[in-house]
Amino acid sequence: MSTLVIVGAQWGDEGKGKITDYLAETADVVVRFQGGNNAGHTVEVGEKQYKLHLIPSGIIHGHKENIIGNGVVFDPEAFFKEVAYLQGMEVPITPKQLMVSDRATVIMPYHKVLDQLKEKARGKNDIGTTGKGIGPAYTDKVDRSAIRVCDLMHPAVLQEKIHMALAEKNPYIQKVLGGEPLDEEALFETYLAYGEQLKPFVKDTSVLLYQRIEEKKNILFEGAQGMLLDIDYGTYPYVTSSNTTAGGVASGTGIGPRFIEKAVGVTKAYTTRVGKGPFPTELLGEVGEWIREKGHEYGTTTGRMRRCGWLDLVIVKTAIRVSGLTSLVLTKIDTLAGLKTIKICTGYRLHGKVIDYVPASLEDLAHCEPIYEEFEGWDASISLAKSYEELPVHAQRYIERIEDLLNIQCSIISVGPRRDQTFQKAAL
Ligand code: GDP
Ligand code: IMO
Ligand code: MG
Repeated sequence: MSTLVIVGAQWGDEGKGKITDYLAETADVVVRFQGGNNAGHTVEVGEKQYKLHLIPSGIIHGHKENIIGNGVVFDPEAFFKEVAYLQGMEVPITPKQLMVSDRATVIMPYHKVLDQLKEKARGKNDIGTTGKGIGPAYTDKVDRSAIRVCDLMHPAVLQEKIHMALAEKNPYIQKVLGGEPLDEEALFETYLAYGEQLKPFVKDTSVLLYQRIEEKKNILFEGAQGMLLDIDYGTYPYVTSSNTTAGGVASGTGIGPRFIEKAVGVTKAYTTRVGKGPFPTELLGEVGEWIREKGHEYGTTTGRMRRCGWLDLVIVKTAIRVSGLTSLVLTKIDTLAGLKTIKICTGYRLHGKVIDYVPASLEDLAHCEPIYEEFEGWDASISLAKSYEELPVHAQRYIERIEDLLNIQCSIISVGPRRDQTFQKAAL
């Protein structure tokens, strides 16, 4: 057996989908353990480009088992839309390839309404959420009032839960947030129908996963979002509402932490973030714009412009600690090709002291001044490299310095969006 967690080591969009697809070649099972359809994972195979939000990226291989775990917040509407999209791309989708945990929390239409209206009400203090209902759905989970996937198959339970939810949420939506109330009967009919449609895909996925572990199968856990969007260790409150770090795997899939063997942190060769919040190495001028255009840094889920900056090793170091990373995967190193000089942030200066961790307080983070090391750039031939030895020498220096500063190996290097623009440098 081998079990490997793939997490984002920055603010999301590091290329987790691409790397999950690449590593899925030798996997039997691919599992999502947190987040929901706020994720946007792009996978390119040959001429085809796939955009996934809720379904694990292993689905593209056609014959792997893909699991949406209990830690995911599950929007049935988004699920069936994605199933139809994938079928349109000739990806086979049957209950053999795709399973949904009976314990996953359901995202209901009122969660989406609440997400959007609350963001509006926050005014200049908005978080910049994806508006997919993620935060309000997790809120209900912790409040113990959520509808879970298994409830969709029990009409009486579903009806009672929708009734209880709307009794509380409709007045809040209407009177506090100035929105339109939702219709109880219509919701019940729609979600009961989803339950019926979903039935063949629903399983106790914890039981199934344990069986696969006993059968010594290879299992990949596909993270969504990234280190600094983690609800506990991210730049709170500018975070998502789940544990995006490797610790989320055990609780989000129903297997014990001792079954998790390795964790790779997907790291972009520079840094990006969508939404609001502090960003110490952000490049607000020409270079930032140049990187955005060259790297096509626009969100897969919302189409929003991603903010761009230099690689920040303080963040990656935090990911190594919090997720217990065993190696890094470096992506988009080709995007930097053409720059004369490239910088890496090796530490922060805060009130006259040098620190190498992300402070809890955003006030402190806003005062952190990045300390940089400078590197010579490389040219566009990098995208053609098929092995580490074929990389331009300055790119090799960049990678080796990252490894030295962080005391960790880069196991995989990605030099373009396609599956075949990826090679292994060291053991995972
Ligand atoms: P994820 O959310 O972590 O899966 O990342 P996204 O898919 O949102 O964003 C990464 C983007 O970069 C996608 O459009 C990928 O196709 C693309 N990509 C991934 N790796 C590379 C790479 O090494 N080079 C280039 N140029 N693009 C890449
Ligand atoms: P992937 O998996 C980048 C950001 C949103 C917002 C914050 C909270 O593609 O890396 P939410 O809707 O989750 O309540 O929004 O988190 N965010 C992401 N940013 N990549 C993602 O996913 C993200 N998912 C959420 O922009 O700042
Ligand atoms: Mg993404």
